[in-house]
Amino acid sequence: MQYTANTLENHWMPFTANRAFKADPRLMVKGEGVYYWDQNGGKILDGSSGMFCSAAGHCRPEIAEAVYKQLQVNDFAPPFTNGHPGSFELAQKVCRLTPDGMDHVFFTNSGSEAVDTALKIAMAYHRARGEGQRTRFVSRERAYHGVNIGGTSLGGMVKNRETFSGVMPGVVHMRHTWLEENRYSKGQPEVGAYLADDLQRIAETYGGTTIAACFVEPIAGSTGCLVPPKGYLERLREICDAHGILLVFDEVICGFGRTGKAFAAQSFNVMPDIITMAKALTNGAIPMAAVAVQDEIYETIVGAAPENAIELFHGYTYSGHPTACAAGLAALEIYEKENLFERAAELSPYFLDRIFSLQDMDEITDIRGYGLIAGIDLAPGDAPGQRGTQLQKDLFWNGLHVKFTADTGIIAPPFIAEKQHIDQMVDILRNIIGGK
Ligand SMILES: Cc1ncc(COP(=O)(O)O)c(C=O)c1O
Repeated sequence: MQYTANTLENHWMPFTANRAFKADPRLMVKGEGVYYWDQNGGKILDGSSGMFCSAAGHCRPEIAEAVYKQLQVNDFAPPFTNGHPGSFELAQKVCRLTPDGMDHVFFTNSGSEAVDTALKIAMAYHRARGEGQRTRFVSRERAYHGVNIGGTSLGGMVKNRETFSGVMPGVVHMRHTWLEENRYSKGQPEVGAYLADDLQRIAETYGGTTIAACFVEPIAGSTGCLVPPKGYLERLREICDAHGILLVFDEVICGFGRTGKAFAAQSFNVMPDIITMAKALTNGAIPMAAVAVQDEIYETIVGAAPENAIELFHGYTYSGHPTACAAGLAALEIYEKENLFERAAELSPYFLDRIFSLQDMDEITDIRGYGLIAGIDLAPGDAPGQRGTQLQKDLFWNGLHVKFTADTGIIAPPFIAEKQHIDQMVDILRNIIGGK
């Protein structure tokens, strides 16, 4: 097929400058390992694991075979009041990875649905405990929690909010954690734990007993990798405990090894009450996400319902879809067999050193990173985002895929990447950012 703007017209692409893309399309037609191929046959190194999904690299045959087999045996099972074995098996596997005491999992199909599910679980939990007055939520500036109504309201990135203002009332935002004095911090910045006191101030302003939950990404990913300052998450945990507020970690990007452990909760040693996860759950092969909750949350909600009654009036037609479960099981098996989370942890110092070697470049104004994720801020051009958009295209046509948010590139290689791939990414970044 010859791709022209005309043949591309019917698909309204998400989060994309449709007119610009259709005039100059960048199509990925094949993936294998740490590479993509474009429509002209060009080989492109994947610097962002697709969109933080493909931790084990692209087109893993184990996942393809598991999905194909599943489709031949049981392609769909009604998830309400019926079930199929794969979802129970996958839930058990996920719970082996989640922190202790977090042994119940609700399946959804996207990170956005996981976030909205977590909001509803928080409300249902408080109501079951006789605290139904807790209807307020706290999140953070620069947060990304997906695009459904709940997640849009929690989100703190202006472009994602301004068209849809006022969608869900009762959300209050803490300050984001980017600080001038922390520029070029590798790992957790030293300064900024005090920013968690915003939650205390919000509790004092609105009443702690009106707040259901506080949502944060342990590392704010989509906004450009804001690593939590030392002591920040611990302080949030303390304040939540003091006011009976649930702490939700949105680990849609962090989960499944990106920080060197299964979840960022374990890397930072701070235990939330709820974790949302998606992306690498199936290595990106089939859409799937999940919400893991502390046992007490599950038991409280389930225990409050009459015997034989539905306990939570919530769920999706495709919750725990058989093919998604098959893909998830195969992906988790690869992670385990190949010790990919440990591999991510081992590769991290080299990755961060190499990425931070770009800090001498005048075009770059800040670099941050932790585990196998890093954010590179570029000095903006004439308008915000203009430089990042152009650079994303230039990098692509020079063999490197990087996810950009405005003028920030987010580098997050697959865990199977070798040091030579990291070197290649950094070389391309230096050359193209430097205009060579
Ligand atoms: C932290 C976080 N939450 C939620 C989402 C939304 O996930 P999805 O795009 O699968 O709906 C994302 C997506 O990047 C995310 O990074």
